[in-house]
Amino acid sequence: MSERLLYLQNFGCQMNDYDVHRMVEVLRKEGYRLTDAREQADLVVINTCAIRENCENKVLSSAGTLRGLKQGKRDVVIAIGGCVATQRGESLLRAIPHADLIFGPDAIVRLPQLLDAVRTERRRYAAVDFIDVEDYEFLDADPQPGDVKVSALVTIQKGCDNFCAYCVVPRTRGREVSRPLPEVVREVERFVSVGAREVTLIGQNVNVYHGAGGGPEDFPRLLEAVCALPGLARVRFTTSHPKYYTDRTSECFRDLHKLGKWLHLPVQSGSTRTLQRMLREYSREEYLAKLGYLRECCPDISVTTDIIVGFPGETEADFADTLSLLSEAQYDSIYSFKYSPRPGTPAFAKADDVSVEEKSDRLAQVQALQREITARRLARLLGRTETVLCEGESKQGGGQLCGRTSGNHVVNFLLPDGQVAADFVGRELNVRILETRAHTLLGTLAAAD
Ligand code: SAH
Ligand code: SF4
Ligand code: F3S
Repeated sequence: MSERLLYLQNFGCQMNDYDVHRMVEVLRKEGYRLTDAREQADLVVINTCAIRENCENKVLSSAGTLRGLKQGKRDVVIAIGGCVATQRGESLLRAIPHADLIFGPDAIVRLPQLLDAVRTERRRYAAVDFIDVEDYEFLDADPQPGDVKVSALVTIQKGCDNFCAYCVVPRTRGREVSRPLPEVVREVERFVSVGAREVTLIGQNVNVYHGAGGGPEDFPRLLEAVCALPGLARVRFTTSHPKYYTDRTSECFRDLHKLGKWLHLPVQSGSTRTLQRMLREYSREEYLAKLGYLRECCPDISVTTDIIVGFPGETEADFADTLSLLSEAQYDSIYSFKYSPRPGTPAFAKADDVSVEEKSDRLAQVQALQREITARRLARLLGRTETVLCEGESKQGGGQLCGRTSGNHVVNFLLPDGQVAADFVGRELNVRILETRAHTLLGTLAAAD
């Protein structure tokens, strides 16, 4: 088989990260090899995100820059995958006239056939349908030695049935399907066999996982099964939805020592009135009660969240509730966004009535308050010795290594004199925390395990 070159650009969340790995694996079997040189590629794939308007615009402008490629290399195939593909559907072929193929997440498995069809029939395709829930089969990961260093993503469900008022994901990813527990376990084992020491179990709402027979205990059961696997140092999961998040899951943080002490529990707003209007189906009080029990089970847990400011109808009082919730919840860090109206979502029909200036002002207030809270949360780690799973050389350079604490904080630390980085990668190390930065920590190796 002749070698062909694949250039891939990825946007979006962990689901897209997972998907691009599957694309690379599927295409590797067809003789494709990844390249950084876009101009030389035989196939250019942009994997897209539609969560906010600016994400979609970024994708469209990036796709625009591909126009010239066709002039330089006439037989290059340009394919647009991911959530903008399913959000826009076939109309994206009109918006990007130089794209040959538009494909959704459920079409990754068919990529070889779709590319053949594009090449041989010389026509443009849109493959944006979802596979029926009853027929859906997860595409098994096929990692090869060298693909995975320390940490791997493993999908446990796809899609979302929640229809939060602002969110495109149910439209862009289709209905929720849970992956059977034995399949998840086998996939984790495959990653471990090529060197992974940590897995993050991913899904848009992992708390509705029902791949272990059905029922609210399924997700904790999955955590127990994965944490029991030999060779793994650490297990994480994301993302949780507060409505479905159970006390039993909080108890897992107490009972399962391999479970990293970090929970991402997106709250979106501190105002019960706004939460109702976002169709989140929990109140501020219910959320805080779950957080309270979590901290009873695991006092040192790191908690992170997502915040949206300027949802339609958000008043000054609603916004003040979000600020006070941040003070009460004491998150380690947050992701915060200005509300962005998305076509096809329930909230799209509502007036986007918080002005751009007001949204910017609220976002700045949220971020300023959180900066102080994050600094205090990081400071609690000063002087402590943390177990850090070493991931490799630090982006900071200077002979530093980096890794994460159980609570998912990034720590940079110096490689001891005369030692080589490769001997530390994938190991759990005792690192004493010496200094804090805005979002990271600086430490020193205390004693290897
Ligand atoms: N499944 C996850 C969310 C995935 S989207 C959950 O339920 O928590 C990631 C984050 O993007 C959301 O938590 C939300 O904060 C933000 N987001 C989603 N749609 C948005 C929109 N229309 N405008 C602004 N932020 C949005
Ligand atoms: Fe979107 Fe809500 Fe589903 Fe999360 S749970 S992906 S916010 S619809
Ligand atoms: Fe974006 Fe799709 Fe993820 S819209 S956030 S890439 S599920």
